[in-house]
Amino acid sequence: MSPTTRDPDRFTALSAELGICFGGDYNPEQWPREVWAQDVELMREAGVNLVTVGVFSWARIEPAPGAREFAWLDEVLELLHGAGIAVDLATPTASPPAWLGIRHPETLPVDLDGVRLVAGSRNQFTPASRVYRAHALAITRDLAARYAQHPAVRMWHVGNEYGQLDYGDEAAREFRRWLRERYGSIEAVNDAWATAFWSQHYAGFDEIVPPRRMPYIANPAQAVDFRRYSSDQLRACYRELRDAIRDAGAAQPITTNFMGFFAHVDYRSWAGEVDVIADDQYPDPASATAPADIALVQDLMRSLGGGRPWLLMEQSVSATSWRGHNLPKSPARARRDSLQAVARGADGVCFFQWRQSRAGAERFHSAMVPHAGADTDVFRGIVRQGADLARLRPVVGSRVQAPAAILFDWPSWWASDEPALPTDRLDTVTEITRWYRALWRRGIAADIVAPAGDLIGRGLVLVPHSYILEPDAAAALAAAVDAGAQLVVGPFSGVADGNGHILAGRSPAPLRELLGVSGEEWCALPDVRISTTPAWRPGAAYAASILGERLRSDGAEVLACHATGPLQGLPVLTRQRRGAGAAWYLGAVVDDGLLDAVIGEAATGIDGALPGLRVLPDGLEAVRRGDALFLLNHSDDPVKVPVPHGLVDLLADEQAAGEETGTVVALGPGDVRVLIERQDR
Ligand code: GLA
Repeated sequence: MSPTTRDPDRFTALSAELGICFGGDYNPEQWPREVWAQDVELMREAGVNLVTVGVFSWARIEPAPGAREFAWLDEVLELLHGAGIAVDLATPTASPPAWLGIRHPETLPVDLDGVRLVAGSRNQFTPASRVYRAHALAITRDLAARYAQHPAVRMWHVGNEYGQLDYGDEAAREFRRWLRERYGSIEAVNDAWATAFWSQHYAGFDEIVPPRRMPYIANPAQAVDFRRYSSDQLRACYRELRDAIRDAGAAQPITTNFMGFFAHVDYRSWAGEVDVIADDQYPDPASATAPADIALVQDLMRSLGGGRPWLLMEQSVSATSWRGHNLPKSPARARRDSLQAVARGADGVCFFQWRQSRAGAERFHSAMVPHAGADTDVFRGIVRQGADLARLRPVVGSRVQAPAAILFDWPSWWASDEPALPTDRLDTVTEITRWYRALWRRGIAADIVAPAGDLIGRGLVLVPHSYILEPDAAAALAAAVDAGAQLVVGPFSGVADGNGHILAGRSPAPLRELLGVSGEEWCALPDVRISTTPAWRPGAAYAASILGERLRSDGAEVLACHATGPLQGLPVLTRQRRGAGAAWYLGAVVDDGLLDAVIGEAATGIDGALPGLRVLPDGLEAVRRGDALFLLNHSDDPVKVPVPHGLVDLLADEQAAGEETGTVVALGPGDVRVLIERQDR
């Protein structure tokens, strides 16, 4: 195996040794030495076993060009190692020192309006800048040479939350190079971008610039290609630092932190580059749907890693400070959030950050050790979490089995996010999130899959909104239905090809045969009513809004029609049985009630994590991971649910451990149970 390819076994070996990884970002450069000793003592008290060090330490290591100050880092690593705490050592490359931008202004990013950004915050670098890249590489090489064999270093963390867009001249040069590689000739670019429109034809690559501020609407194909390029350019930054670490002889897992459904980076194209998928998650405590919505992100992360355990790299202990209004989390909520990630396949839960900063932009962001110190409910909650996670060692390495699949990919999201569509109110991720809630309520985990992946054997396949759908993806959907899947397709899917060109013919062109229904016009909708037909839930009333389609059935059963509005009397919900399965179509953005009814019915043959219950009590989450059944009560009310006989709770205290829970388990508000068959332990 080449030394730079992904190897998930590296993380498997680490978590097999440490158990669930538990810790956070540790920024000792913000604190005097005497605090370091206290930190390590408190980390041991909390059962912390992994900390990320050095993420923003470039100016400390290289205070002047070419300088190297590693002595403080040597000391920190020794201290942590002496306490048995593993280090995830970060390249400091996300935040270059001020001198770099002053000496080399071209390393500073340029925004859409041509404004060059300055140092004083973080992320002030141009991914396309050769000078930035050379400096980042030089410091990474020296860091890796010094610490690749250090016994404290058990993981490497490259950069931080890669995600910036840059529109400057450096980016223009690299965008042109990227286009040359993708298309080979300028005529191929002209074809892909359909530049006959508005006299946009390019005679040569040197005429092309990034989609900077323009007088009017930009070419959508150019804009989507610029997003592809930007994601690839950031990936190139990551890759070269990762390779430098490997070349220095490092054998530890190497990763970087993702940000869920983040719009500027196609994580699916990155997933093969990291040894373990790592993600930062900040569900808003103010949102009632946060538990279901973050579960979707966790299912995405697990899916990106092919089902292998992933790592929750950052989350907040209590409040964040970057929202306008930052609600705190109770210690019980923080605990539940961590256990939820483990339930959905994480073998590590870490926080931003260990000790709350007293100054700087994040002085009000919560941390494991708050300003008030260790005599706090927050820190006591962290100690409790450490103890809980240690008890979950039996689940390390196990997998979540997901019977459902949801189609999602970044380029389709990007293309449907461009302006000048029938509506700007339809967002891919918002729709996926709404659809997913119907699965979550039923304890059904989902894999979030790429179009055209193998779907055979999936009982349920959801396509909430796949604007771009290529023929191979449509064929995979048809094959899944033939093999027995219930497929549910949402509106404005199968609209365009990979270049964003609209597919000709009645819509949705690649799916109309499979669905047995076709349309002639997309229609933005006011709020309208929908009524079911006698064929399905007669008398039920639902609503739609945002977008519909002037549809006719070409053979599918019509289950519901528009009752009011511009499409009055026309079908909105259809179903066509085919092979061993069925293809449902929702030809409008419908309300949560209708979504839940359709997905619930399509999921009839699928067992959730609690097969005895078709729908879980409000706020209860149930997930099966390996042999363990995770139950998380996110509500403020107690709940009782039936469970298989003879399970024990891994989280229960000494006395309760090993006692049978009976067939009904009660969870108080906020409680979590991790039930597993009694083993002779
Ligand atoms: C991200 C960053 C951290 C910190 C947190 C605050 O996750 O990686 O450095 O800024 O946000 O929530």
